[in-house]
Amino acid sequence: MSDITDAARAILAFNDRGGYTVPTDALYPFQWNWDSAFVSMGFATFNIDRAYQELERLIEGQWDDGMLPHIVFHVPSDTYFPGPDVWNTHHRHHKKPTTSGITQPPVFGMALRYIYEIALTEGREDVLARTRLLFHAALRSHRWWMKVRDPEKRGLVAILHPWESGSDNSPAWDEALARVSTITKTEICRQDTKHVSAAMRPHHADYQRFIHLVEVYRECKWDPVKQWSAAPFKVADVQMTAILARATADLIWIASHLNLLDEINELSTIHRILLDGLRGRWRNNLRGFVSLDLISGKDIQKPTQAYFIPLIAIELDTYQHEAVQDEIERWCNGMIVGVPSTAPFSSDFESKRYWRGPVWAVINWLIVDGLCKNHLAELAAIIEGNTINAIERAGFREYFDPITGEGLGGNSFSWTAAAYLVLRH
Ligand code: DGY
Repeated sequence: MSDITDAARAILAFNDRGGYTVPTDALYPFQWNWDSAFVSMGFATFNIDRAYQELERLIEGQWDDGMLPHIVFHVPSDTYFPGPDVWNTHHRHHKKPTTSGITQPPVFGMALRYIYEIALTEGREDVLARTRLLFHAALRSHRWWMKVRDPEKRGLVAILHPWESGSDNSPAWDEALARVSTITKTEICRQDTKHVSAAMRPHHADYQRFIHLVEVYRECKWDPVKQWSAAPFKVADVQMTAILARATADLIWIASHLNLLDEINELSTIHRILLDGLRGRWRNNLRGFVSLDLISGKDIQKPTQAYFIPLIAIELDTYQHEAVQDEIERWCNGMIVGVPSTAPFSSDFESKRYWRGPVWAVINWLIVDGLCKNHLAELAAIIEGNTINAIERAGFREYFDPITGEGLGGNSFSWTAAAYLVLRH
């Protein structure tokens, strides 16, 4: 085992807060939904029990309607804003611990298959009951997605807050977010810029809008039907839909192993619906998949990493195959490390600002996976190699400047460590 693999494991141990892992110390002091799903796969490369535990701690926060919240506030901390008082979800979610009121990409189902497969190869028949329990939690969350976030039956699930996408300040949201008021009742006490340079984080006006949205939904008392009608921001997101579709396929795989026939049928229907929805979002002229702004009714054409995430779920046709390969190569041309989260030729590109250009190891992990699934193994190997090199050069940083390879954002980041462990596995 290399020293760097050792260091990656040490980061997961350092960020362990008792069965769950914080994304990084101080900047993100709670359990985040998709971070934990990626982290559980990192753990699975060397400690199956700890991998299961990560997901088990996450579902402690699951709501009665099936939603898996984006943050579980297991223990108090004053190093993050907005904390549980701003969310005020207590009345909807009676169980301990308290949580935020929105969700995040459902990587959970992908993670569960990944760790279950490793457990099986290790001959761990004892994980069956744990797998079954987590499977049913995931299934409840997929039902929630379909019912609550695709009520108009487009085969695409919607986000009501940019934080749900995980790509908070992506240029993809600029136009839709501009319609959201900057007025807030809550005083905005940002903590993030105390830990990380403001030049690498969203702007103040973004935060005003993020908090305004929280207030709108809080006033709906977190009732999903009321939120759907009141939402001033509503985007059918291809990245989210692709992750949900892929996670659904992974749940079908698990259900087949567990011989759960009704569940296989139910999930297969969901899977078909989502794949149809995704296929309709391909645009020849852009050489990628685009999200749909449900308020303006317009395509979101901004070139971001979301263009390529559907590869994890669908088989490209011959034309798309070539187009995607050319487009990814174009985005990576001249970069020390690709794939940038915004195309470098776009006027929105900023190489150091969070989701407006930097490279994220977990996004590359998804893109590599999608390229392999679509028989583009050569390009996948280049991106994988560059991601590993970037981490070895700059450390387990939150994200990387594609032009210089410099490490940016938080330090000792859990999901970057997990990406390293999985890509090296
Ligand atoms: C943050 O606070 O930056 C997170 O991305 C929201 O989940």
